[in-house]
Amino acid sequence: METTQTDPDTETTRPADNEAAVGVEVEGLRKSFGDTEVLHDINLSIKPGEIFVIMGPSGSGKSVLLKTIAGLETPTKGRVTIAGHDIAERGSREKVHMALVFQAGALFNSMTVFDNLALYPTEHRLHGRKEIEKKVMDALGILSLEDARDKMPSELSGGMKKRVAIARALVMEPQLMLYDEPTSELDPIMGATISEVIADLRQEVGLTSIVVSHDRDLSLTIADRVAILMDGNLLAVDTPDKVRNSDNPVINDFLNPVIDVNNPRFKQKKAAS
Ligand SMILES: Nc1ncnc2c1ncn2[C@@H]1O[C@H](COP(=O)(O)OP(=O)(O)O)[C@@H](O)[C@H]1O
Ligand SMILES: [Mg+2]
Repeated sequence: METTQTDPDTETTRPADNEAAVGVEVEGLRKSFGDTEVLHDINLSIKPGEIFVIMGPSGSGKSVLLKTIAGLETPTKGRVTIAGHDIAERGSREKVHMALVFQAGALFNSMTVFDNLALYPTEHRLHGRKEIEKKVMDALGILSLEDARDKMPSELSGGMKKRVAIARALVMEPQLMLYDEPTSELDPIMGATISEVIADLRQEVGLTSIVVSHDRDLSLTIADRVAILMDGNLLAVDTPDKVRNSDNPVINDFLNPVIDVNNPRFKQKKAAS
Protein backbone atom coordinates (compact mmCIF):
# COMPACT_ATOMS: atom_id res chain seq x y z
CA MET A 1 0.00 0.00 0.00
CA GLU A 2 1.16 3.50 -0.74
CA THR A 3 1.66 5.68 2.28
CA THR A 4 1.24 9.38 1.74
CA GLN A 5 1.64 12.37 3.98
CA THR A 6 0.31 15.87 3.61
CA ASP A 7 1.28 19.02 5.39
CA PRO A 8 -1.31 21.77 4.90
CA ASP A 9 0.93 24.38 6.55
CA THR A 10 3.71 24.09 4.04
CA GLU A 11 1.58 23.08 1.10
CA THR A 12 3.85 20.16 0.48
CA THR A 13 3.02 16.57 -0.17
CA ARG A 14 5.35 13.63 -0.24
CA PRO A 15 4.67 10.31 -1.89
CA ALA A 16 6.17 7.14 -0.52
CA ASP A 17 7.71 6.05 -3.80
CA ASN A 18 7.96 8.29 -6.79
CA GLU A 19 11.44 9.49 -7.50
CA ALA A 20 11.40 10.75 -11.06
CA ALA A 21 10.83 14.36 -12.11
CA VAL A 22 7.27 14.93 -13.24
CA GLY A 23 5.64 16.53 -16.26
CA VAL A 24 2.76 18.99 -16.04
CA GLU A 25 -0.12 19.29 -18.53
CA VAL A 26 -2.46 22.26 -18.54
CA GLU A 27 -5.44 21.74 -20.85
CA GLY A 28 -8.11 24.28 -21.74
CA LEU A 29 -7.71 25.95 -18.37
CA ARG A 30 -10.03 28.82 -17.50
CA LYS A 31 -10.26 30.49 -14.13
CA SER A 32 -12.87 33.02 -13.06
CA PHE A 33 -13.44 34.88 -9.84
CA GLY A 34 -17.12 35.81 -9.82
CA ASP A 35 -17.94 37.14 -13.29
CA THR A 36 -14.34 37.97 -14.11
CA GLU A 37 -12.33 35.44 -16.07
CA VAL A 38 -8.63 35.94 -15.30
CA LEU A 39 -7.21 32.93 -17.22
CA HIS A 40 -8.52 32.28 -20.73
CA ASP A 41 -8.04 28.84 -22.27
CA ILE A 42 -4.46 28.13 -21.16
CA ASN A 43 -2.72 25.12 -22.72
CA LEU A 44 0.78 24.10 -21.63
CA SER A 45 2.87 20.99 -21.64
CA ILE A 46 5.81 21.14 -19.24
CA LYS A 47 8.34 18.34 -19.53
CA PRO A 48 9.90 16.41 -16.67
CA GLY A 49 13.10 18.13 -15.57
CA GLU A 50 12.34 21.33 -17.43
CA ILE A 51 12.82 24.85 -16.07
CA PHE A 52 9.71 26.57 -17.28
CA VAL A 53 9.37 30.29 -16.65
CA ILE A 54 6.07 32.16 -16.79
CA MET A 55 6.57 35.87 -17.41
CA GLY A 56 4.11 38.70 -17.69
CA PRO A 57 3.15 42.07 -16.26
CA SER A 58 1.54 42.49 -12.83
CA GLY A 59 -2.03 41.30 -12.73
CA SER A 60 -1.70 39.14 -15.84
CA GLY A 61 -2.66 35.98 -13.92
CA LYS A 62 0.76 34.42 -13.20
CA SER A 63 0.13 33.68 -9.53
CA VAL A 64 -3.37 32.38 -10.21
CA LEU A 65 -1.95 30.05 -12.87
CA LEU A 66 0.75 28.80 -10.50
CA LYS A 67 -1.74 28.24 -7.68
CA THR A 68 -4.05 26.38 -10.05
CA ILE A 69 -1.16 24.16 -11.14
CA ALA A 70 -0.44 23.54 -7.45
CA GLY A 71 -4.06 22.59 -6.82
CA LEU A 72 -4.61 25.54 -4.47
CA GLU A 73 -7.15 27.07 -6.86
CA THR A 74 -9.69 24.96 -8.74
CA PRO A 75 -10.05 25.43 -12.51
CA THR A 76 -13.36 26.90 -13.64
CA LYS A 77 -12.87 24.90 -16.85
CA GLY A 78 -10.21 22.55 -18.13
CA ARG A 79 -7.67 20.70 -16.06
CA VAL A 80 -4.15 20.36 -14.77
CA THR A 81 -2.50 16.96 -14.65
CA ILE A 82 0.83 16.29 -12.98
CA ALA A 83 2.46 12.94 -13.70
CA GLY A 84 -0.93 11.90 -15.05
CA HIS A 85 -2.91 12.87 -11.94
CA ASP A 86 -5.71 15.42 -12.32
CA ILE A 87 -4.65 17.77 -9.56
CA ALA A 88 -8.22 18.94 -8.81
CA GLU A 89 -9.31 15.39 -8.00
CA ARG A 90 -9.44 14.32 -4.38
CA GLY A 91 -6.27 12.68 -3.22
CA SER A 92 -4.24 13.43 -6.32
CA ARG A 93 -2.24 16.25 -4.75
CA GLU A 94 -0.86 13.74 -2.27
CA LYS A 95 0.52 11.63 -5.11
CA VAL A 96 2.86 14.33 -6.37
CA HIS A 97 5.65 15.66 -4.24
CA MET A 98 5.72 19.39 -4.88
CA ALA A 99 7.09 22.33 -2.99
CA LEU A 100 5.98 25.92 -3.35
CA VAL A 101 8.13 28.94 -2.72
CA PHE A 102 5.73 31.83 -2.41
CA GLN A 103 6.46 35.51 -2.75
CA ALA A 104 6.39 36.07 1.01
CA GLY A 105 8.07 32.80 1.94
CA ALA A 106 5.98 32.37 5.13
CA LEU A 107 8.38 31.12 7.78
CA PHE A 108 7.36 30.26 11.33
CA ASN A 109 8.45 33.34 13.27
CA SER A 110 8.78 31.60 16.61
CA MET A 111 11.33 29.09 15.31
CA THR A 112 14.97 29.33 14.33
CA VAL A 113 15.96 28.87 10.71
CA PHE A 114 17.18 25.36 11.51
CA ASP A 115 13.90 24.41 13.16
CA ASN A 116 11.90 25.87 10.28
CA LEU A 117 13.74 23.56 7.91
CA ALA A 118 13.70 20.52 10.17
CA LEU A 119 10.00 20.82 11.03
CA TYR A 120 8.48 18.97 8.12
CA PRO A 121 10.83 15.97 7.95
CA THR A 122 10.75 15.69 11.76
CA GLU A 123 6.97 15.82 12.08
CA HIS A 124 6.58 13.29 9.30
CA ARG A 125 9.42 11.12 10.56
CA LEU A 126 10.93 11.03 7.11
CA HIS A 127 14.43 10.36 8.44
CA GLY A 128 16.30 9.93 11.70
CA ARG A 129 17.58 12.97 13.59
CA LYS A 130 21.13 12.80 12.27
CA GLU A 131 19.95 12.44 8.70
CA ILE A 132 17.52 15.36 9.02
CA GLU A 133 20.29 17.50 10.49
CA LYS A 134 22.52 16.62 7.54
CA LYS A 135 19.81 17.38 4.99
CA VAL A 136 19.03 20.69 6.69
CA MET A 137 22.69 21.68 6.75
CA ASP A 138 23.12 20.61 3.11
CA ALA A 139 20.17 22.76 2.09
CA LEU A 140 21.48 25.71 4.12
CA GLY A 141 24.88 25.19 2.49
CA ILE A 142 23.46 25.26 -1.03
CA LEU A 143 21.95 28.66 -0.25
CA SER A 144 24.96 30.00 1.71
CA LEU A 145 22.93 30.16 4.89
CA GLU A 146 25.07 28.12 7.29
CA ASP A 147 25.58 31.14 9.53
CA ALA A 148 21.85 31.74 9.77
CA ARG A 149 20.99 28.34 11.22
CA ASP A 150 20.29 29.64 14.74
CA LYS A 151 18.76 32.97 13.75
CA MET A 152 15.10 33.84 14.10
CA PRO A 153 13.22 34.92 10.94
CA SER A 154 12.85 38.45 12.37
CA GLU A 155 16.65 38.79 12.27
CA LEU A 156 16.85 38.05 8.56
CA SER A 157 16.82 40.38 5.58
CA GLY A 158 14.20 39.89 2.86
CA GLY A 159 16.71 38.14 0.63
CA MET A 160 17.75 35.75 3.38
CA LYS A 161 14.15 34.91 4.18
CA LYS A 162 13.63 34.05 0.55
CA ARG A 163 16.66 31.79 0.54
CA VAL A 164 15.48 30.11 3.75
CA ALA A 165 12.13 29.49 2.08
CA ILE A 166 13.88 27.81 -0.86
CA ALA A 167 16.12 25.80 1.49
CA ARG A 168 13.06 24.65 3.41
CA ALA A 169 11.40 23.52 0.19
CA LEU A 170 14.57 21.62 -0.76
CA VAL A 171 14.62 19.65 2.47
CA MET A 172 11.29 18.21 1.37
CA GLU A 173 12.97 16.62 -1.65
CA PRO A 174 10.36 17.68 -4.17
CA GLN A 175 9.84 16.37 -7.70
CA LEU A 176 8.30 19.67 -8.70
CA MET A 177 9.29 23.11 -7.43
CA LEU A 178 6.96 26.04 -7.97
CA TYR A 179 8.39 29.50 -7.40
CA ASP A 180 6.38 32.70 -7.31
CA GLU A 181 8.66 35.71 -7.91
CA PRO A 182 11.72 34.17 -6.24
CA THR A 183 13.91 37.20 -6.96
CA SER A 184 11.51 40.04 -6.24
CA GLU A 185 12.78 42.45 -3.58
CA LEU A 186 16.32 41.10 -3.95
CA ASP A 187 19.36 43.06 -5.02
CA PRO A 188 20.75 42.03 -8.42
CA ILE A 189 23.56 39.90 -6.98
CA MET A 190 21.24 37.95 -4.74
CA GLY A 191 18.76 37.67 -7.59
CA ALA A 192 21.50 36.12 -9.70
CA THR A 193 22.38 33.73 -6.86
CA ILE A 194 18.78 32.57 -6.62
CA SER A 195 18.72 32.05 -10.39
CA GLU A 196 21.86 29.94 -10.15
CA VAL A 197 20.34 27.93 -7.34
CA ILE A 198 17.26 27.20 -9.45
CA ALA A 199 19.46 26.10 -12.36
CA ASP A 200 21.77 24.05 -10.07
CA LEU A 201 18.87 22.21 -8.51
CA ARG A 202 17.77 20.98 -11.88
CA GLN A 203 21.31 19.85 -12.59
CA GLU A 204 21.81 18.13 -9.26
CA VAL A 205 18.38 16.89 -8.32
CA GLY A 206 16.78 16.75 -11.76
CA LEU A 207 13.52 18.24 -10.56
CA THR A 208 10.94 20.04 -12.65
CA SER A 209 10.75 23.78 -11.93
CA ILE A 210 8.02 26.25 -12.76
CA VAL A 211 9.09 29.80 -12.05
CA VAL A 212 6.78 32.81 -12.14
CA SER A 213 8.77 35.97 -12.58
CA HIS A 214 8.85 39.31 -14.25
CA ASP A 215 12.63 39.30 -13.86
CA ARG A 216 13.69 39.27 -17.47
CA ASP A 217 17.34 38.39 -16.82
CA LEU A 218 16.47 35.45 -14.63
CA SER A 219 13.88 34.19 -17.04
CA LEU A 220 15.88 34.40 -20.21
CA THR A 221 19.04 33.00 -18.60
CA ILE A 222 17.83 29.92 -16.75
CA ALA A 223 14.68 28.94 -18.60
CA ASP A 224 14.47 26.03 -21.01
CA ARG A 225 11.25 27.60 -22.18
CA VAL A 226 9.41 30.80 -21.41
CA ALA A 227 5.70 31.49 -21.49
CA ILE A 228 4.48 35.06 -21.86
CA LEU A 229 1.17 35.63 -20.10
CA MET A 230 -0.73 38.86 -20.67
CA ASP A 231 -4.25 39.61 -19.47
CA GLY A 232 -4.79 35.91 -18.88
CA ASN A 233 -3.76 34.86 -22.40
CA LEU A 234 -0.61 32.99 -23.38
CA LEU A 235 1.02 35.06 -26.10
CA ALA A 236 4.03 32.81 -26.59
CA VAL A 237 5.59 29.61 -25.31
CA ASP A 238 9.08 29.13 -26.66
CA THR A 239 12.80 29.04 -25.99
CA PRO A 240 14.29 32.19 -24.43
CA ASP A 241 16.03 33.02 -27.73
CA LYS A 242 12.87 32.78 -29.79
CA VAL A 243 10.90 34.80 -27.25
CA ARG A 244 13.62 37.44 -27.06
CA ASN A 245 13.54 37.79 -30.83
CA SER A 246 9.79 37.66 -31.11
CA ASP A 247 8.29 39.86 -33.81
CA ASN A 248 5.19 40.39 -31.68
CA PRO A 249 5.41 44.09 -30.70
CA VAL A 250 3.54 43.51 -27.43
CA ILE A 251 6.10 40.92 -26.32
CA ASN A 252 8.92 43.12 -27.50
CA ASP A 253 7.64 46.10 -25.58
CA PHE A 254 7.27 43.95 -22.46
CA LEU A 255 10.79 42.50 -22.66
CA ASN A 256 12.50 45.69 -23.84
CA PRO A 257 10.54 48.61 -22.48
CA VAL A 258 11.74 51.93 -23.78
CA ILE A 259 11.88 54.50 -21.03
CA ASP A 260 10.43 57.60 -22.60
CA VAL A 261 8.99 60.35 -20.41
CA ASN A 262 6.77 61.39 -23.32
CA ASN A 263 5.24 57.95 -23.55
CA PRO A 264 1.48 58.09 -22.87
CA ARG A 265 1.96 55.27 -20.31
CA PHE A 266 4.00 57.65 -18.20
CA LYS A 267 1.60 60.56 -18.60
CA GLN A 268 -1.35 58.43 -17.58
CA LYS A 269 0.49 57.34 -14.46
CA LYS A 270 1.39 60.90 -13.57
CA ALA A 271 -2.13 62.13 -14.14
CA ALA A 272 -3.52 59.32 -12.03
CA SER A 273 -1.24 59.92 -9.06
N1 LIG B 1 -8.71 35.22 -4.91
C1 LIG B 1 -8.99 36.12 -5.85
N2 LIG B 1 -10.22 36.65 -5.95
C2 LIG B 1 -10.54 37.55 -6.92
N3 LIG B 1 -9.67 37.99 -7.83
C3 LIG B 1 -8.42 37.50 -7.79
C4 LIG B 1 -8.01 36.55 -6.81
N4 LIG B 1 -6.71 36.23 -7.02
C5 LIG B 1 -6.32 36.96 -8.09
N5 LIG B 1 -7.34 37.71 -8.55
C6 LIG B 1 -7.28 38.60 -9.72
O1 LIG B 1 -6.76 37.86 -10.81
C7 LIG B 1 -5.92 38.68 -11.62
C8 LIG B 1 -4.57 38.04 -11.76
O2 LIG B 1 -3.91 38.06 -10.52
P1 LIG B 1 -2.48 37.43 -10.26
O3 LIG B 1 -2.45 36.05 -10.78
O4 LIG B 1 -2.18 37.61 -8.81
O5 LIG B 1 -1.54 38.36 -11.14
P2 LIG B 1 0.07 38.35 -11.24
O6 LIG B 1 0.57 37.28 -10.33
O7 LIG B 1 0.36 38.11 -12.68
O8 LIG B 1 0.51 39.72 -10.82
C9 LIG B 1 -5.87 40.03 -10.94
O9 LIG B 1 -6.79 40.88 -11.58
C10 LIG B 1 -6.31 39.74 -9.53
O10 LIG B 1 -6.94 40.84 -8.95
MG1 LIG C 1 1.78 37.38 -8.63
